[in-house]
Amino acid sequence: MAGKEYDFMLFGATGYTGRLCAKFIVKNYNTNTRWAVAGRSPAALKRLVSDLAVLNPDRTPPGVVTFTKLDEAEIGPLVQKTCVVINGIGPFHRFSTPIVAACAKSGTHYVDFTTETLWMRDIIDKYEKLAVESGAVLIPGITPGGPPDLLAYLIASEILTIDDSGTSEVISAGKLDIQGMSGGSATTVLDSLATWGPWWFLFGNSWILAPRATVPSKIPRPPFMSWLFGYRQVSELGGALTTSFVGINNEPIVHRSCAKNPKLYGTKFHFKEYLPVGKSRWNFLSAGFVHFCTYFGVLVISIPPLRALLRMLLPAAGLGPDIAEARAGESVVYHAVGIPSSRQDMRAHAVFQRQGSLYEFTALMACVAARVIRDKTAIRGFQGGFSTPSSLGMEYVEALRGAGVEIGVSLEPCKLL
Ligand SMILES: NC(=O)c1ccc[n+]([C@@H]2O[C@H](COP(=O)([O-])OP(=O)(O)OC[C@H]3O[C@@H](n4cnc5c(N)ncnc54)[C@H](OP(=O)(O)O)[C@@H]3O)[C@@H](O)[C@H]2O)c1
Repeated sequence: MAGKEYDFMLFGATGYTGRLCAKFIVKNYNTNTRWAVAGRSPAALKRLVSDLAVLNPDRTPPGVVTFTKLDEAEIGPLVQKTCVVINGIGPFHRFSTPIVAACAKSGTHYVDFTTETLWMRDIIDKYEKLAVESGAVLIPGITPGGPPDLLAYLIASEILTIDDSGTSEVISAGKLDIQGMSGGSATTVLDSLATWGPWWFLFGNSWILAPRATVPSKIPRPPFMSWLFGYRQVSELGGALTTSFVGINNEPIVHRSCAKNPKLYGTKFHFKEYLPVGKSRWNFLSAGFVHFCTYFGVLVISIPPLRALLRMLLPAAGLGPDIAEARAGESVVYHAVGIPSSRQDMRAHAVFQRQGSLYEFTALMACVAARVIRDKTAIRGFQGGFSTPSSLGMEYVEALRGAGVEIGVSLEPCKLL
């Protein structure tokens, strides 16, 4: 972007996920990319820059940007130096509001990987108008919301080719094979429960991020068995499904995409995310077990003394799973099926999967999105405001494919008719 010192500025670069973002940039962005690492510790940033130089000595090293306090007065002038901010400072609801505010005011584009949906609602309420005026494109929650949001987008696009009235439902089965959490992620789960209590996880509103005027008056209820025991049978998704711990944070992102683009999704659209539990004869028991464990687990860690106890067992800030082990054992796999509004004889199927470390995957999703935002906004302008991963469209899908993510979509006759 003309007049900016940097294309990208990475906040939280010294954290576990921030360092993975920095490494992704060094390995994958053009060697002459103008970028900076931002943080509060000059010594930690200096160490990071030396580590990055070892990874790829031929590239221009990042600038180093330091601040003493995360407040708008100090952060405002810093974000003005860059086209896009990639932010890894979490728990986001505790620390990152001033960064979002500064970006919204200055027209600086922004991406992060928060899971704090209620914080997203808060920053949309506070800064949407400013961002629309300044032209800042703000995409919080690029993971874990990105994969289901992109699948729903691809399915809706595919269905629109055969059904003018759009899509009535997308059901997704998403599985994250994770071997361990970082200190930052675990702290964020506990801090979110401390701030908002367990009710969001248990009874959250999947349309909470949509502009209020667009929320449907009648939201489809899940089937009774699914509501009570978590259990839902969707043969097109390979068997039984159950309650997903991350589903309630992902569904609002998909519904925001739908609300902002009713021509694509149609007016009856609904999205639901589950966790797959497989094909065994007793899978309804597994579904019920996972459902109750999820609810029980959330309630238990909402009890302050137990939460305090758990904090003592967490990895320290800045630490996380061993990357070599995570690369070998972790994966993200999403399947989804879409039902057209009128054409009951057809179904759209989509898949999104990648083998490897989930924290590296988060870094990949954020850094690829940041690059697409930089390119899209530079070439033909882009409407400012709070957006979703799928607003980056096929450019984002293609860039993710280029970075090794398998993404596919197809239309098929419905086998159940
Ligand atoms: N959605 C996903 O898939 C996903 C994946 C990974 C992480 N996350 C989220 O991303 C966040 C970071 O996770 P992480 O594991 O990378 O955490 P981490 O290792 O603890 O890193 C946190 C970063 O934030 C900075 N920071 C913390 N408090 C600060 C403050 N008051 N002022 C300035 N900087 C501050 C730290 O700087 P210092 O080094 O100076 O302390 C560090 O750079 C968490 O909220 C986590 O839930 C989400």
